[in-house]
Amino acid sequence: MDQLRTDDPQAADFTRSDDPVALFAAWMKDAEAAEPEDPNAMALATAGADGLPDVRMVLLKGFDAQGFVFYTNTQSTKGAELAENPQAALVLHWKSLRRQVRARGAITPVTSEEADAYFQSRRRESRLGAIASQQSRPLADRATLMDAVAELSARYGDGPIPRPAHWTGFRITPVTLEFWQNGEFRLHDRVRFTRTDGGWSRARLYP
Ligand SMILES: Cc1cc2nc3c(=O)[nH]c(=O)nc-3n(C[C@H](O)[C@H](O)[C@H](O)COP(=O)(O)O)c2cc1C
Repeated sequence: MDQLRTDDPQAADFTRSDDPVALFAAWMKDAEAAEPEDPNAMALATAGADGLPDVRMVLLKGFDAQGFVFYTNTQSTKGAELAENPQAALVLHWKSLRRQVRARGAITPVTSEEADAYFQSRRRESRLGAIASQQSRPLADRATLMDAVAELSARYGDGPIPRPAHWTGFRITPVTLEFWQNGEFRLHDRVRFTRTDGGWSRARLYP
């Protein structure tokens, strides 16, 4: 049985963690060191009133004990789905680390102060793009979008660019948080944390 270990001898330690928030922070740090492109990219699954699941990538822009934060256009397809059903699931997969993290939970908008602070931290071009993009709606051609960006650029000049009302952040507050580490012979390590009154319960799952 000696060879039936996880790839990484350190990895089994995570199965004894009592703190999924600290564990996620540690894995995110490992991912930032190991993944050359977008270690914070995550698939975000939603389902609107029709119940048909939908999924797309977004960037994780904040994580703490309150949950996972991403930013988007509230008038997009995902924005409509979240308005109808404010629940979501997410998954991050770090290929080079052979790790996966999944979470499910309720969605709440971030405060306008939080959204303003993040919006203003973005590059000017990204702020103009967020205003110009009618995300998820039909676009005749690329020139239409670029003309809208140029018009906004001329309008705002070097002055402040306010965050548009249709662009904000959402926080998924996880009710479950699951960690997966690849193991040899597909005998992976898998631990699911479930929120309890004031804490977390932990269960190891068959892979
Ligand atoms: C790596 C990656 C990161 C992305 N990050 C975001 C993001 O943070 N916010 C966002 O609105 N769209 C992001 N997108 C675009 C979305 O995947 C999607 O195309 C867009 O949000 C429209 O989705 P919807 O029609 O389901 O609302 C990203 C795409 C990729 C591939």
